[in-house]
Amino acid sequence: MTTLPISVSWQADTVRILDQRLLPGREEYLDCRDIEQVFTAIKTLSVRGAPAIGIAAAYGLVVGLGAAAKVSSSEHLMKALNERRDYLASARPTAVNLVWALDRMMSVANSFEDIGAEKLIQCLIQEAETIHTEDKASCRAIGEAGYEVVKRHPRLLTHCNAGSLAVSELGTALAPMYVAHQRGIELHVFVDETRPLLQGARLTAFELGRAGINRTLITDNMAAHVMSEGKVDAVIVGADRVVANGDAANKIGTMNLAILCQHFNLPFYIACPWSTVDLSTQKGDEILIEERGSEEITQIDGHETAEQNTPVYNPAFDVTPHALITGYITDRGLLTAKDLLDH
Ligand code: MRU
Repeated sequence: MTTLPISVSWQADTVRILDQRLLPGREEYLDCRDIEQVFTAIKTLSVRGAPAIGIAAAYGLVVGLGAAAKVSSSEHLMKALNERRDYLASARPTAVNLVWALDRMMSVANSFEDIGAEKLIQCLIQEAETIHTEDKASCRAIGEAGYEVVKRHPRLLTHCNAGSLAVSELGTALAPMYVAHQRGIELHVFVDETRPLLQGARLTAFELGRAGINRTLITDNMAAHVMSEGKVDAVIVGADRVVANGDAANKIGTMNLAILCQHFNLPFYIACPWSTVDLSTQKGDEILIEERGSEEITQIDGHETAEQNTPVYNPAFDVTPHALITGYITDRGLLTAKDLLDH
């Protein structure tokens, strides 16, 4: 795969975040040296995609603490870490990877008996790096698990961006496509532009283009027509949270596609790492859906497309019922909704 910019990295006590709001036009990085900068980067979608925000938050929990650790007691540090965990967790509510990564970091912090603040910070940086490395392995495993799906259904449609930019590398929904492409399968991907923030147009079309995969950009409301023309074999999308009964939250507009797939008798797959599976939540209607600012709807790229005071409803995600999901392409294999509880 042609090299794509890395969404998150840890460099010399700094969280380096690719500013995805500027893509595909500009490739610029934010060097976050304090927790507020990481929080803002997550909230404003400089870094976005469920696994990538989990990785950014894991590093964000410890960024800027180095100097304080030299003069701080472990007790003091634990109090600060608990506050920082809650602050970062409040940046976005729907993707479970954010709290999953933060809670994993906190359980490491809680597992040590007074090892000293400096040592504790070192252990936490190590844990964040482990979360990051494990995500790379998960994406590779998803790529393998979904390879046969893409081989059987090489004419695909995807929504939002669940590619390399949304994770450590490779992606979730796009991972099987990258693997199939590397193995010589001829594939074609319709890319929903994904209003309101155009993650499909700006990020997915860019990624697939860089990788040399045939892709065609469409607006979201063209999917039914394209399917009716017989141009799509299957839909693969990512997820922000998959709950115990298999219901899956993903970018707004995902459920439309699942309903269309049922109508046109096409398979509809969710691709995600296990860190996106939340077995503590039973059903999709318990998932908190993020609502974002009205300007995302009344403007495109800063230009007003509606009167400023027009009432707006802007849910960032929807929940696809498990009955509409053919399978889950995960780092634990290709699963059905029933399998989720057994893994
Ligand atoms: O608002 P975003 O851009 O963070 O939404 C992202 C998605 O909905 C992705 O499909 C999901 O997080 C999976 S990313 C591998």
